[in-house]
Amino acid sequence: KKEQRWKAAVVTLSDKGYAGEREDKSGPLLCSMLEEAGYEVTEVRLLPDEQKMIEQCLCELADEKKVDLIATTGGTGFAPRDCTPEATFAVATKNAPGIAEAMRLASLQVTPRAMLSRGASVIRNQTLIINFPGSPKAVKENLEAVLPSLEHGLAILT
Ligand code: MTE
Repeated sequence: KKEQRWKAAVVTLSDKGYAGEREDKSGPLLCSMLEEAGYEVTEVRLLPDEQKMIEQCLCELADEKKVDLIATTGGTGFAPRDCTPEATFAVATKNAPGIAEAMRLASLQVTPRAMLSRGASVIRNQTLIINFPGSPKAVKENLEAVLPSLEHGLAILT
């Protein structure tokens, strides 16, 4: 299905970014890479590492804005405040672990620290949600690993 471009949302999870203490470079990078690949980025958010706020945001983007893809960046590591995967699983209707597995597999060729990303990939009804790590370098490497395969998944989903 789908004749128009896929609608995407980009959500940055960062306490420092939200507080204005650090410029968010990863969200804008996700936006430009997705636009470059033909997606229409219709929603962009910057939130602190607060699980309930993240859950609410993901639900709004999926249920009301009805985006096809939500790409998050940040909050996937081991830091006490990191809770992006927990928020993502909390709103999932199905797990779609292969995308996160493929990202870690590809990323391990670049750095052994790739194993420290707990990023999840799930489905909420007709929306695919993918967690990317926080650094621009990791965003680029992880998105490049899965981007070519996403459209087939989205086509089946909608
Ligand atoms: N994946 C790739 N491809 N490249 C990277 O540089 N950094 C790792 C990992 N995944 C990295 C990567 C590191 S150092 C961490 S701590 C985790 O992602 C989690 O990052 P986050 O806490 O910013 O989400």
